[in-house]
Amino acid sequence: MADRNFDKLLGIKTVGIREWRGKTNYNRYEATPYKALEALFQVYKLDKNDRVVDFGSGRGRVAFYIHNRFHVPVTGIEANPTTYDEALDNKMRYRHKAKHIKAPIRFEYGLAEDYEIKPEENVFYFFNPFTVEIFKKVFNNILQSLEKHPRLADVVLYYPMPKYKEFLKNQKSFRTLNKIRVPGADDIREKFIIYRFD
Ligand SMILES: C[S@@+](CC[C@H](N)C(=O)[O-])C[C@H]1O[C@@H](n2cnc3c(N)ncnc32)[C@H](O)[C@@H]1O
Repeated sequence: MADRNFDKLLGIKTVGIREWRGKTNYNRYEATPYKALEALFQVYKLDKNDRVVDFGSGRGRVAFYIHNRFHVPVTGIEANPTTYDEALDNKMRYRHKAKHIKAPIRFEYGLAEDYEIKPEENVFYFFNPFTVEIFKKVFNNILQSLEKHPRLADVVLYYPMPKYKEFLKNQKSFRTLNKIRVPGADDIREKFIIYRFD
């Protein structure tokens, strides 16, 4: 199904791109393709106890998709004020269609690197939002939270950048759980890598 049609089903608008002006360490907005999300979640299932955070959540596509499919709490963190406002508009429309889903869906305006990880959050999603230097800060925040409140947790990367992979390869507390390719993709980076802390 085309991305616009999938958006329509959820009552949201997430198609398009937004570049940052004058920010070289923050990457542009572009949503994870729905066909990639479908491929991921055909294999990787979420449980009612899971709590998801999307770092650099953009207009919210991943958050809405997961919330709608698994009925679990999802939080999105977005640093671009215009994009964040679009996510809030989407939430208003989405909630009309998804009144029956009790789990909360939240968007926070701010920097991913400043976000305080909650003890119950355990699935951390990244679609290439920023440089590896910022990723390292966010990752350290996750690690500190896991050390303080031990739990099973996953880091999910879409379109993983070599620098992210190199950094994660050296993190002894995480192992590669799975790699999921997007069917029909020409670009070999169109895949997910899931790293598990257990
Ligand atoms: C490639 S988009 C991914 C959007 C969404 N996660 C998805 O997969 O559909 C990356 C997003 O990260 C946001 N971003 C970049 N740097 C950020 C930061 N330091 N903190 C929070 N969001 C950031 C961008 O504005 C953009 O919306």
